[in-house]
Amino acid sequence: MIPPFNFAQMPAIEFGWQVTQTKLSDAILAASQQSILLVSSGYVNQHYVDSRLAKVLAQRNVLRCVVQGEPSPDLIDQIVKEAPQDIELVIGFGGGSVLDAAKAIAGLLPERHSVVDYLEGVGCGRKLQTQPVPFWAIPTTAGTGSETTKNAVISRHGEFKKSFRDDRLLANQAWLDPSLLVSCPKSVLYPTAMDAFTQLLESYVTLKANPMTDALAWQGIQLFNGAFALLESDDQARQQQGYSRLMLAASFSGMTLANAGLGAVHGLAGPVGAYFEAPHGLVCARLLAPITRMNIQALPDSDAAHAQKTLAKYKQVAALLTGKSEANALISHIDHLVQQYVPQGLADFGLTKTNLGPVIDQCRAGSMLGNPVVLSDQDLLGALFESLGR
Ligand SMILES: [Fe+2]
Repeated sequence: MIPPFNFAQMPAIEFGWQVTQTKLSDAILAASQQSILLVSSGYVNQHYVDSRLAKVLAQRNVLRCVVQGEPSPDLIDQIVKEAPQDIELVIGFGGGSVLDAAKAIAGLLPERHSVVDYLEGVGCGRKLQTQPVPFWAIPTTAGTGSETTKNAVISRHGEFKKSFRDDRLLANQAWLDPSLLVSCPKSVLYPTAMDAFTQLLESYVTLKANPMTDALAWQGIQLFNGAFALLESDDQARQQQGYSRLMLAASFSGMTLANAGLGAVHGLAGPVGAYFEAPHGLVCARLLAPITRMNIQALPDSDAAHAQKTLAKYKQVAALLTGKSEANALISHIDHLVQQYVPQGLADFGLTKTNLGPVIDQCRAGSMLGNPVVLSDQDLLGALFESLGR
């Protein structure tokens, strides 16, 4: 018997190598007669927007906003307050933080309340009353999958990192151009891609997985498998294959997390991100092996109906990634990937064995609820300790 589930609407997707060079300009001109709000990073402006879209943007009224780092409520509110009333299209062109900022702004423009009012667990529970301004997402990293999710993550450092979530926040169009990943520094690309892999694996084994998210998660994990090695090839075609696979894996991870939720890694990554300025992908990468090991160790003792099925999924992923149908092989493989591609520990970002109390206190809502087993505070603290060093 397949339990009931729902699967949200997805954006229209344009995928292709250099598709932002061949088709994006005409699409923007067709979609907007007057005013566009373009949210990007300084890096993206310099490397892509100014060279690829300048002529198009010169034909429209364009307000440009730069977002660096994870968006704060103050930044979002300021951009919304200053934006003209006639914005017809919001384009987010950048990494996950840029896309989340653009998504939130598009949602807030018609209503113009503070984003804090809408944040889960923080605000007054306000819900969107009006359809957002159309929003297009153009990712330049292969990480968060924000281009296919219905939430925008907003952070106030030292206080919270929470989601503004509504089905209507979903991008209308997602432009997936793997060529945009070529100039992404590997120090950013690898951790963000590990975030995508974490999202795929967590949503594959989460309590809320369903046949549709399973199909996407499994395909996403297959796309991720071996992609890093392709990037290191001297052959250009193989490199392009690697970038393309990572771009799709990340977008699939957004679809699976939006519809099945995540697990303990992201349950911890939320409050870690609120209290420490550690990159999200790096946090997920460093927590993935210890949390996976704890889940795999706890599942055989669980009498829950899903336990054996979940363990079988872990073994299936292990067989794909390592050739061995043993759950422990999966943990070794993740460890190896992290040591090779994300060697920096979380101690480098101020986490110590003595300052993690607030993280544990704040980790029990949201993603943690989807983890296939309930992990104790002691287990979670142990995973955090393992993430500190090399
Ligand atoms: Fe993530």
